[in-house]
Amino acid sequence: MPSLPDALGLSVPIIQAPMAGGGDTPELVAAVSNRGGLGSVGAAYLTAEQIAATAARVRALTDRSFAINLFAEPPVGSPTGPLALPEDPIDPAIWTALAATHESLGLQAPRRPAALGLALDAQITAALESGAAVLSFTFGILPPAAIAAARDRGMGVIGTATTPVEAVALTQAGVDAVVAQGAEAGGHRGTFLHPFAEAMIGTMALVPRIVDAVSVPVIASGGIMDGRGIAAARALGAVWVQLGTVFLTCTEAGVPPAYKAELARADGGDTRITRAYSGRPARGIANRFMADVDALGDARIPGFPLQNALTRPMRTAAKAAGRAEYLSLWAGQGVGLAPPAMPAAALIDRLMAHADQLADDYR
Ligand SMILES: Cc1cc2nc3c(=O)[nH]c(=O)nc-3n(C[C@H](O)[C@H](O)[C@H](O)COP(=O)(O)O)c2cc1C
Repeated sequence: MPSLPDALGLSVPIIQAPMAGGGDTPELVAAVSNRGGLGSVGAAYLTAEQIAATAARVRALTDRSFAINLFAEPPVGSPTGPLALPEDPIDPAIWTALAATHESLGLQAPRRPAALGLALDAQITAALESGAAVLSFTFGILPPAAIAAARDRGMGVIGTATTPVEAVALTQAGVDAVVAQGAEAGGHRGTFLHPFAEAMIGTMALVPRIVDAVSVPVIASGGIMDGRGIAAARALGAVWVQLGTVFLTCTEAGVPPAYKAELARADGGDTRITRAYSGRPARGIANRFMADVDALGDARIPGFPLQNALTRPMRTAAKAAGRAEYLSLWAGQGVGLAPPAMPAAALIDRLMAHADQLADDYR
């Protein structure tokens, strides 16, 4: 079987990170793939029907390869803890914080969600049938049957590691490539074999450690915003880079104007790791809800995905109202390097011109 890079034949070494929550519109995914990179659909919050519809839209816009990404369940006994259940206790202080934001947004009082909305088996089936060339995942390792089924279909399989130990576990499970997600990365931490705080290794240190630990291609991710980051990642041994934050600035990205304004304003020091929005540590631009809930103390915040479901009505209303103080503004520490808004094809051209120039300079 050819290696994943050979099988995909990308003309640029750039993966647009899957970004569950809507930033990665089909238009963005297709634009990246059409320019020779690999667009990714973050499907973790989508139903099976939505995965099928989203993939169909991507396929209508490109005949190139794209990836579908899911959230794996943490392994039994994982130090990151099991998934929260709908009936788990919710601290009164969380209700108070949510009630204040609901009132400020003109919403009814917050209520306990009936369902948490992740149906992994159905999502896997839909992902396998989506026409995507790659199945990627984070938060753990997909079940062996899912990985085997993807491989049987000729799909590439990519897992996410935040430590060399996790990278080795992923290769033992049969992945074709590993994303090395550094601590700078925007969005959720992929950690699944360590307590979160013990897996905060920066991209510069993590990539070569994982390159040395595994024999599959390594994809550098976290804080890479321009050609300098791409050139550096390649020098560290990465075959590809996976970029999230920088693609949120593209004209095709599906984030609201209030979020884009924060991306243009913020610098790396404005980002924090928080459990306030979803119950699982993720990096985003600090804002009011994050500060208020984090101040309550970690122990009071429900786990993922219960907290995610609890904050959903607030986030949906805040999006419609343009209220950035109640949005989960996922962004990496490189956010201060955000370029002006442009189409994804122009961004890729700019990134690669810069990276290739640097490679020439160093030759
Ligand atoms: C808005 C946003 C949503 C994300 N959602 C996902 C996701 O659904 N699945 C995933 O594997 N990674 C997700 N990530 C993490 C990215 O895969 C990647 O590790 C990260 O964006 C890299 O750091 P950067 O943002 O500094 O480029 C997300 C990142 C962002 C910024």
